[in-house]
Amino acid sequence: MNGGRYELHWLEKVVLVTLSRLGKPSTYQAISSEAVKTLKPQLDSLHDQSMLDTLANPSSIAKACGWLKEKGLVQISVSRTVRSLVLGEEGVRYVREGLPERRLVNRLVEMGGTTVIDHLKDMPDYEIGINWGLRLGWLQIVKDGSETRVSLRGETLGKTDQECLLEILAEKGELDLDGLGPELGKAADQLLSRKRVVSISERKVIEVELTQPGWGVASTLMERPLSDYLNEVTRLTPYLLSSGRWRLVTLSRYNVAAPVEPIFTAKRHPLAEVIRMVKKTYVEMGFEEIEGPIVELAFWNFDALFQPQDHPAREMQDTFYLSHPSCGELPREYVERVKAVHEYGGDTGSRGWGYKWSEEEARRLLLRTHTTATTIRHLAKTRNPPIKVFSVDRIYRNEKVDWKHLAEFHQIEGIVVERGATLRQLMGVLKEFYLRLGLHQVRFRPSYFPYTEPSMEVEVRLGDRWLELGGSGIFRPETTHPFHVEHPVLAWGLGLERLAMVIYNIEDIRAFHQNDLGWLRKVSPLEPYRFGGRAGL
Ligand code: PHE
Repeated sequence: MNGGRYELHWLEKVVLVTLSRLGKPSTYQAISSEAVKTLKPQLDSLHDQSMLDTLANPSSIAKACGWLKEKGLVQISVSRTVRSLVLGEEGVRYVREGLPERRLVNRLVEMGGTTVIDHLKDMPDYEIGINWGLRLGWLQIVKDGSETRVSLRGETLGKTDQECLLEILAEKGELDLDGLGPELGKAADQLLSRKRVVSISERKVIEVELTQPGWGVASTLMERPLSDYLNEVTRLTPYLLSSGRWRLVTLSRYNVAAPVEPIFTAKRHPLAEVIRMVKKTYVEMGFEEIEGPIVELAFWNFDALFQPQDHPAREMQDTFYLSHPSCGELPREYVERVKAVHEYGGDTGSRGWGYKWSEEEARRLLLRTHTTATTIRHLAKTRNPPIKVFSVDRIYRNEKVDWKHLAEFHQIEGIVVERGATLRQLMGVLKEFYLRLGLHQVRFRPSYFPYTEPSMEVEVRLGDRWLELGGSGIFRPETTHPFHVEHPVLAWGLGLERLAMVIYNIEDIRAFHQNDLGWLRKVSPLEPYRFGGRAGL
């Protein structure tokens, strides 16, 4: 009835009919005037007045044209550029005070048609006035001995084209430069040659035109008078209610699929979002969070973890050491036992590393290189099962920053301490953890860490490849013995940024710190969940 399969707003209907009546590509302004012209005689009531106001506003027409374009019923294009003349700063003043040459000759007339040039020098713009007066042939300058005199040459000094043009400009605000005709055109050039009197402003003309389907819909609509379509309203007004007119109108339907401007609400940074997801997952699995210092003793970061003091990871090119202060206090109660394990195995049955352990080295301060330092600190304090704790925290490594390395990043760490805990159990916990994050395939490879035995690398399946996410294992006696821990400790330390890269599907780890607003606004960690989970990852 009202345009076939297209759901149209009354404004859209008016635009379609008006465009077809105009019969050619038209501006919003032209559509607006034409629509008002046709509809005005047919409308009377208050309600209709507000519709007329809407129609008279070219930006409402523009909005309706936008909707019609979405539906493929019109095409909107920039047809040409219009150059128009507008008043400049000086121009505005000249409109008020008159052009300098006019002010000058008026003054001369008052003075009897002639004067010594020095008598004019107190006038504002007097030089410009003299120059233009001479160019227009209004004045002459005569040298008379030491005196220079300025005199009028004729009697009636008619309005110049420049003055006419200024007057019209003052009234209309702007003038189409290309439609001025020869005289005013010349005057425009003259005004343009003067400083800041007028300037050219360029404007693109946007025109709307019916498409093939647009013509079709318009001709169906034209079977009824245009005013019929105005019975449709988008909201009930007090007038509609009190006048009873609401009975006669049709309420227009919502189009929930209409495109709108995107709204960017405040949100968490993508990394913070992943940290939250990970922490939540841990908590759901019954873990408690622990925290440790970022500035750590080499003792906790390395020695307590049975990492020999000549281990390459302890060197400056891998670890950031502090200069001020460079050393801290050792936890005395553990020093002897750790020293013994390193030197000859203590009473663990191990032979240790067989070197002379240095307290100096263990006292050095550094930025922790892994959160396992936090784990072992906690273990020394807590030691008795059952323990299920985690940390998701920052660590530092002296890395050259590139697409897959940062010098400051995060680890997802955790331990389970339980009587009789097994490697199988460790694999189960990690599988469950990743499963809850939507990663369905997890596998383990034998690996090596000085503090675990056995040790495993954890990998998850991403598309058609396996991605290394971190290390895991069961703490060896050399690690647990000095702290009186007697039950198996299942431990792991996994990369957070790596996981975040998988979740956000990005190739370059630096993206998390580049503050690319476009990316930050559109990313969501929930995106992959939208279509039935992350099974495909
Ligand atoms: N700390 C190890 C790393 O930084 C990971 C790990 C943690 C390995 C716990 C085994 C046990 O890579």
